[in-house]
Amino acid sequence: MAIRTVGVVGCGLMGAGIAETMARGQYNVIVREINAEVLQRGLERLQQSMATAVAREKMSQWDADAAWARIRGITDLEDMAECDLVIEAAVENLDLKREVFAALDRITPAHAILASNTSSLSIAAIAAATRPERRDKVIGMHFFNPVPVMKLVEIIRSVVTSDETFATIRDLSVGLGKEVVVAKDYPGFIVNLLLIPYLLDAVRALELGIASQEDIDKGIQLGLNHPMGPLTLLDFVGLDTTLFIADAMFAETGDARYAAPPLLRRMVSVGLNGRKVGRGFYEYGKK
Ligand code: CAA
Repeated sequence: MAIRTVGVVGCGLMGAGIAETMARGQYNVIVREINAEVLQRGLERLQQSMATAVAREKMSQWDADAAWARIRGITDLEDMAECDLVIEAAVENLDLKREVFAALDRITPAHAILASNTSSLSIAAIAAATRPERRDKVIGMHFFNPVPVMKLVEIIRSVVTSDETFATIRDLSVGLGKEVVVAKDYPGFIVNLLLIPYLLDAVRALELGIASQEDIDKGIQLGLNHPMGPLTLLDFVGLDTTLFIADAMFAETGDARYAAPPLLRRMVSVGLNGRKVGRGFYEYGKK
C-alpha cells in the first residue's frame, strides 16, 4: 500500500523525532499536540534537531527546508483524516492510547495503518480499542531516542496484525534507513525487556550506596564501552517515561525485576524527570 501522509500523535521527545524522521524520508507529516503552546515547543525541538543535522553536515539546508515544508502542526485529532499511517507517540498510558486509537479508527480512512510507539504496552490491548475490521492494521513501531540518529525500529505484531500491515511497516522503516527487529507482543518486547531491569538496577545500586552516581556511570561507560552510563541514559530517556514503562511491565508480569526502586519514584514525584526539564540525576543547561 502506498503511504504518502503520516500522522504523528504527540510532539514530545519521541513524537518530534518521529515527525522529523518521516519528513526527512519524504513523507507529508501531520503532527498533533494537545494545545498550541506544547505544539510550538515540540516543533522548535524538531527544528533545532534539523539545525544540528545541517551543522553536522548530515543534511543540506535545502533538504532541511524541504522537510520542514512537509510538516503541518495541528491540535485537533480530527485533522488526521487524510493520513495513510498514524504513529501514536503519546505518554505511556494504556487508557489514553486506547482513547486515541478509538478516535483515529473513526477519523482515518479504512486503509490507514495505526501504529503505536509504545515501549512496553500490549499492541493487542491497544488494537482492541478499534473496530474488529481495523485490528489487523494495528502494529507496534518502536523508535529509539534520538530518533533521527538511532538506527533501530522494533516492530511488534499483535496476534491479529496482518502480513500485509507488517510488510508495509517493515519496508517503510527500511526505506527510512533504519534496521528492523521483530518482536512478539510481550511486555517490553526485546529492548526494554533487557533495558528496564538494567536501568532500575543502576538506581538500586545508587540507593544502596554502592558507588557515587558518577562512578556507576563511569564504570559502565568505560568498563562496557556503552555510549552513556545508565543514570545518564535515564536522564536522557526521562525518569518519568522510564517509570511509566517499568510500572506497566510490573503490572502485567508481576515480576520483581520491573519493580521501580523508591528513589526513582521520589525523583519523579518532584519533577526531576531528566534532561528535558534540566535536572534528573545530573543538572543540564536551562531548557
Ligand atoms: N540528525 C542527524 N544526525 C545527527 C543529529 C540529528 N539531529 N544529531 C546528531 N547527529 C549525528 C552526529 O553528527 C554524529 O554522527 P557521526 O558519528 O557520524 O559524527 C552522531 O549523530 C552522534 O552525535 P553526537 O556526536 O552529537 O553525540 P554523541 O557521539 O555523544 O552521541 C548519542 C549521542 C547518539 C545520543 C549517544 O550518546 C548514544 O547513543 N546514547 C545512547 C542512546 C540510547 O541508548 N538511546 C535509546 C534510549 S531507549 C529509547 O529511546 C526507547 C525506550 O523505549 C526507552
